Amino acid sequence: MMSRPILKLVNLTKKFGGLVAVNDVDLELESGKLHAIIGPNGAGKTTFFNVISGFYAPSAGQIIFDGIDITKKASHQIARLGMARTLQVKSVFGSMTVAENVWIAAHPRGSVFNPFRPASSFTKTKEKTEQVLEATGLSEMANLVAGTLSYGDMALLEIGIALATEPKLLLLDEPVCGMSPAETEQTVGRIKKLSETVDIVIIEHDMEFVFGLADDITVMAQGGILAKGSPKEITENAEVREAYLGEEDDEDWHHA
Ligand SMILES: Nc1ncnc2c1ncn2[C@@H]1O[C@H](COP(=O)(O)OP(=O)(O)OP(=O)(O)O)[C@@H](O)[C@H]1O
Ligand SMILES: [Mg+2]
Repeated sequence: MMSRPILKLVNLTKKFGGLVAVNDVDLELESGKLHAIIGPNGAGKTTFFNVISGFYAPSAGQIIFDGIDITKKASHQIARLGMARTLQVKSVFGSMTVAENVWIAAHPRGSVFNPFRPASSFTKTKEKTEQVLEATGLSEMANLVAGTLSYGDMALLEIGIALATEPKLLLLDEPVCGMSPAETEQTVGRIKKLSETVDIVIIEHDMEFVFGLADDITVMAQGGILAKGSPKEITENAEVREAYLGEEDDEDWHHA
């Protein structure tokens, strides 16, 4: 029996005019697993994240997050319910330090400028900030100005900012994009470790990365779900092999 899904989608569809970017998707993602979504350029992966996190309203269908219907909720409401995400295009406060970026995300909303805030809330935020910096491996860079970070470290900071809100579900859109092989390997280890405490869905195009990391893989193509299963099942799936794995450049689907 499957444990309660952290995310359940029923007939989820997103259209942009005549273009169906997410096409009638039925999907349940089990809690406690590291999920990956793979698929070629334009398959609808980022749009899928944009719809489930409330950045775009779905054209049809239903989104259930941890048992709650969030179909009609706004992105800030969904964030407050415990869904956090990073963006494919990085967005940090470049002029602030690494630690300040995490601190702002970790601090409870509305309490920063409240003169009657309990001093303990600051102690808690400081602890959370240190914990996040540790988990993302950014402790030693805490006092660097974020704008000076390498692309890989910037990506880690994005994950840290998302984690600081203590989410139940973390959505990562191509987290190792732009990282060196060494940074990628380190990040894989960190994401694996993080997945012990938070449910994670990763969008990724690097197949090798996904097969070594995820417990469960969903393959998207042309807005729909082509297959879902363990890395082994996906590798052995004839339809997936035919569509992708047999291609000449099966290492990388990006032709940007
Ligand atoms: N805001 C938008 N308005 C119109 N069309 C869009 C919008 N966002 C995405 N699309 C289109 O929807 C389709 C799916 O795009 P999406 O970005 O979700 O794909 P993807 O799987 O994330 O691709 P990639 O691997 O390149 O990141 C594409 O045809 C894209 O051009
Ligand atoms: Mg994308």
